[in-house]
Amino acid sequence: MKFGILFSGRGTNLQALLDAAADPGFPAQAAIAISNRADAGGLDRAARAGVPTAVVDHKAFPDRPAFERALTERLEAAGVELVCLAGFMRLLTPTFVDRWAGRALNIHPSLLPAFPGLDTHQRAIDAGARFAGATVHFLSAEMDAGPIVAQAATPILPTDDAVSLAARVLEGEHEIYVRALRWVAEGRVRIEGGRAVVDRASADAAFYLPAKSARV
Ligand code: GRF
Repeated sequence: MKFGILFSGRGTNLQALLDAAADPGFPAQAAIAISNRADAGGLDRAARAGVPTAVVDHKAFPDRPAFERALTERLEAAGVELVCLAGFMRLLTPTFVDRWAGRALNIHPSLLPAFPGLDTHQRAIDAGARFAGATVHFLSAEMDAGPIVAQAATPILPTDDAVSLAARVLEGEHEIYVRALRWVAEGRVRIEGGRAVVDRASADAAFYLPAKSARV
C-alpha cells in the first residue's frame, strides 16, 4: 500500500513513519510527503529518506476547497492510497475529507475524545488529569474526531509542565502511528458502526502494550 504524508512542521512523526517504511518487510511504502509550508523541517527529513516532496502553499489558493483539490491531485499523481496527516496544521473541509473517507489517518496528542484542538497538554494539566496520551484516528469532518485506531497513554507527573509532558507524549505518538499504519496497510482495520475495529487485536501483543513513554 502506498501512503502519502501531509505535514506542516518539524516532522518527527513523519520521520517515525519513514523509518518504519524503510524496512522492506513493512506493508506500506511512502510515495510522497507534502507540506503546506516551504520552511517545514520535515521536508529535509523526507528528502534524506529519498521520498519525493512537494510544497502546496495554502496561501496560493483562493479558498480551502481549491487548496484541498491541489493536495488531492498531488497525492493521486503519486499513487497514494492512504493519507497520513502528521502535524498538518490546516483544517480540512469535506472537499478533502469525503474524498479520502476511510483512507486518511490523523494523529492528535491527547486521549481523544478528551482535549481536541490546540494546547492539549496544558489543558490536561490544568484539568488535573492523571493521564495524557496520543490518538491515531481516521479523519472526519469534525476536527480531532473520527474512529480511533490506536492510543498510547502517558502518566502526567506532578512535576510536568506542557513542554515535559509533550515530549513524553511524542514518544508514544511515534510508536502508535507506526502501529496504526501497519494495521491499516495489512487490511486489518474496518469501520463498523462508527468505530474502527482491528482484526486479531487480542492476538496482537502490541495492542495494549504501554508505550515506552508510559513507563515511569
Ligand atoms: C504532534 O504532536 C502531532 O500530534 C500534532 O502536531 C505535532 C507534530 O509534531 N498534531 P511533528 O511535526 O510530527 O514532530
